[in-house]
Amino acid sequence: MTPKRYLVTSALPYANGPIHIGHIAGAYLPADIYVRYLKANQKDVAFICGSDEHGAAITLRAKKEGKSPREIVDFYHALMGKAFADFGIEFDEYYRTSSADHIEMSQSVFSKLKEQGVFETHTTEQYFDEEAQQFLADRYITGTCPKCSSEKAYGDQCEKCGSALSPTELIHPVSTLSGKAPVLRETTHWYLPMQNHSDWIREFIEKGILNGEVHHDPNQWKSHVVGQCLSWVDGGLQARAMTRDLDWGVPVPGEDGKVLYVWLDAPIGYITNTKVWAEKQGKNWEDYWKNDDTQLVHFIGKDNIVFHCIIFPIILKAHGDFILPKNVPANEFMNLEGDKISTSRNWAVWLHEYLEDFPNRQDEMRYVLASIMPEQKDSEFTWTDFKDRVNNELADIVGNFVNRVFVLTHKYFDGAVQSAATSEFDHIRQEALESFQTIGQKIELYRFREAQSAAIQLARIGNKLLTETEPWKIYKTDPEKTGEILNICTQLIAAMAIAFEPFLPFTAQKLKAGLNWNGKSWNELSSMEIIPVGHILGEMPILFVKITDEEVTRQQEKLRAAQLSNKVAEPVKEDVSFETFQNMDLRIVHVLEAEKVPKTKKLLKLKIQLGSEERTVISGIAESYEPQDLIGKNVLYLANLAPREIKGVVSSGMILMAENNKGELSLLSPERPTESGNCVR
Ligand code: MF3
Ligand code: ZN
Repeated sequence: MTPKRYLVTSALPYANGPIHIGHIAGAYLPADIYVRYLKANQKDVAFICGSDEHGAAITLRAKKEGKSPREIVDFYHALMGKAFADFGIEFDEYYRTSSADHIEMSQSVFSKLKEQGVFETHTTEQYFDEEAQQFLADRYITGTCPKCSSEKAYGDQCEKCGSALSPTELIHPVSTLSGKAPVLRETTHWYLPMQNHSDWIREFIEKGILNGEVHHDPNQWKSHVVGQCLSWVDGGLQARAMTRDLDWGVPVPGEDGKVLYVWLDAPIGYITNTKVWAEKQGKNWEDYWKNDDTQLVHFIGKDNIVFHCIIFPIILKAHGDFILPKNVPANEFMNLEGDKISTSRNWAVWLHEYLEDFPNRQDEMRYVLASIMPEQKDSEFTWTDFKDRVNNELADIVGNFVNRVFVLTHKYFDGAVQSAATSEFDHIRQEALESFQTIGQKIELYRFREAQSAAIQLARIGNKLLTETEPWKIYKTDPEKTGEILNICTQLIAAMAIAFEPFLPFTAQKLKAGLNWNGKSWNELSSMEIIPVGHILGEMPILFVKITDEEVTRQQEKLRAAQLSNKVAEPVKEDVSFETFQNMDLRIVHVLEAEKVPKTKKLLKLKIQLGSEERTVISGIAESYEPQDLIGKNVLYLANLAPREIKGVVSSGMILMAENNKGELSLLSPERPTESGNCVR
């Protein structure tokens, strides 16, 4: 069944920071390519995005910057919207979840779900900050991780060991608002009992069946998406709270101090924003959301999979009026110069900065990101690879080909397209048509890397033809054949002008302008006679300027500098007196034996020598050192820390270590020869 219309969404980015190239490669560029292709084929499409303006992501950022949440979302909404537009990501709608339209829409969805008995209410005890007089979101509570003893675990997760936590599991919880220990208070919330939906969700994901009917072909879904969903379902779905005690968010109708859970409100933003767009267009938004002949496709990054493939579909189906996604072609992650992209560590290439540093070179970045899009597995962006791809592929293949054809046609024929009567080059025409068809087929399978490479193939075919036939050498003896070769090359350029539109829209425009030709729609290209004989070509600008080594170095340095400036050392603790310091008995000790403490990940049991005395100490060092690496070392030791029992062993004193930003530990050894038991002062 061919869909009557398409509803394409890209994940609504949190309005708490700028967009970086990892976001683009994940959820925005693939969607834009897909939509541009559909529009080039005259399909009825709505391309919907917007800012996600609620949740702890926003309020934490506001707190950090000393601003109100409203100021934060206003600022980043504008910044992101402009960067997307400047980069040629052409949403039909880019609206906001803090808008009145959205509050109305998400409240009405919530109320209908509530009336239909979709939710359960549960009363639980949750942490409350008595000083700030508010319940604490998971992210607002820090404490000691019960799994790894890291002191900086959050209420939802320990970033050190990666464990998912709930706030009440934290040892010594502290509110980040007041710095005080929070207290437990009863509160009642609406929960979505997801476990009641696991049977149909499994059938939907695994078989593509919904309400007993074929909904989609599950083989067209990416295997990592299906895999992640099924492992979630296998792990057992649970009731999930759909409301929160917060003051920033969509108010729960009829309740004071409660808002909708951000992951309930945000995806409903797709619906709100479709409605806002449709009303401006004089269209009916319900056609897009309530008709089964609409193909709904969500483009997202892999951290959003369960929300779009399980939780939101449960909401949509339980609500009853809405369609479910036909596909969720989530991408994996793109790394940057050997490390994970990280907003908090400032390890990122920000889109708005790229646009400033490389003005009018959107297509260069679009090209490279589409070439390395993390479609099936994680990928990596580096500036040297960026340079190589732009220079060796865009400039040397595409730019060079187009340039040669224009120069020669102007030189020999005053820019006039010559006749191509013979069939000698039919195989070229054939190859070109096949490449062109491949592009469409690959896009429809969400294989954008291969699709783009098929588009570039058109230029490769032309380059090869020029190199093999050398028309500049045969012009004197055979001008007719020279004209024929240039004709075919011109047809290839016209095909490129159509085929590049989804990937390199700015270049596609330049090609059309240079050809002096308005272009044709995708499905009109059925033969390679596109530009008529006698047509006069215009001027073609240089399409791609090469990236220099200096530009690469500047970007690499910029990354490192930004990361350094972001490194604020931990605040220094309160002053202590000299006596207090002297009370600590610091020594150099010699490690005699080391072994792992069974059933722990982090602990080693060491036997150390302090003068003639031998002691046992437990040290949380096993993730940074193997036992055999320690034996024979002289290390720094706090000798008079009161002994304590750890895992059934009495541990005396403490081995001291430095910790780097990655959480790796490093022993401190004296630079000159020392004896075990020597003092440190
Ligand atoms: N703001 C979320 C993120 O950046 C994505 C929200 S997608 C939506 O991870 F569906 F909820 F809108
Ligand atoms: Zn931990």
